[in-house]
Amino acid sequence: KRKVILDVDTGSDDAIALIAAMANPDFEVLGIMAVNGNRAVPITTENSLRISELMGGTVPVFQGCAVPWTSCMLGFRRHYPMYSAPEEALYKNIHGTYIDQCPPATIKAQPKNAVSWLVDTLMEAEDGEITLIPLGPLTNIAHAVRIEPRIIPKIKEIVYMGGGFRVGNKTALAEFNVWLDPEAAQAVLDCNIPFTFVTLDATHSAYVTMEDAARFRAIGTRPAEVVASLCEQRIAGYGEWQKVADVPAAPVHDPLTIAYLVDPTVITDIEDAPCVVDCGRGAAYGVTLFDIRNGRAEAKAPNCRVALKADREKYVDILCRLLENTKK
Ligand code: BDR
Ligand code: CA
Repeated sequence: KRKVILDVDTGSDDAIALIAAMANPDFEVLGIMAVNGNRAVPITTENSLRISELMGGTVPVFQGCAVPWTSCMLGFRRHYPMYSAPEEALYKNIHGTYIDQCPPATIKAQPKNAVSWLVDTLMEAEDGEITLIPLGPLTNIAHAVRIEPRIIPKIKEIVYMGGGFRVGNKTALAEFNVWLDPEAAQAVLDCNIPFTFVTLDATHSAYVTMEDAARFRAIGTRPAEVVASLCEQRIAGYGEWQKVADVPAAPVHDPLTIAYLVDPTVITDIEDAPCVVDCGRGAAYGVTLFDIRNGRAEAKAPNCRVALKADREKYVDILCRLLENTKK
């Protein structure tokens, strides 16, 4: 079994990714780390607890960082408020605040902070033993690698939902997870851990429709019903925001990482590339600059793989297969 740790800002699509990961018999999910992102960290923690409980409540949840990495260091909250009033309304439609599809959690977060737990867990692991699947800003992981660099070789690989090549959502070309903490993303990239970006370009090509949501619901289990309802919520929210298809549809970003780990052929275009994250204060703030110039001599050596396109029908089939493993 592949040992995995999820680092999430739950969020509607994080919730689906958590369900998919916990439903995958080939994963051993060691823990869920919550981070500031879609919502403040007490909310992303509570939402993660709700989903862990939905899936049996055996996977521990750890609360992590409350503010982006540099904002902590500089002692001010550069990104607050994160959303303008119209953006806030749209985010509410897409993510909700709490995952209302599940009741308040009765299980509690672990006493340890997520960053301390990650450091301790990796220090006890063998080299290359653990896969990290971050689905929010990279704040927790950046803290961990800076506090204890000896954890770096313990990480087998990082499969990250973040970044964009030709697609942005927070700004014209910046993807939200990277935009919220670009310095953290760059710090983690600098560790030279095998790193895959599952970008917005890939997730927007892997959109989910109302028919797909109906397929999830027809599986008939409680987790499948939650996934169907979250997809419908996203489709309604995206309709008012970013059009991704000619039919009512929405990208369901985060679980594409899980689908990729289950079956890499779900990604149909993937390149090795050098990536730099723009941490300046200009118009490209938070942009992932992938240099895809077909081997031009000026390009730096690749430091990541970048997933650019997906097979959306295969994606939905993989999600169905995973949901079929869930209990009534
Ligand atoms: C990412 O940002 C968040 O809103 C989603 O949960 C996803 O991780 C997409 O840009
Ligand atoms: Ca997320």
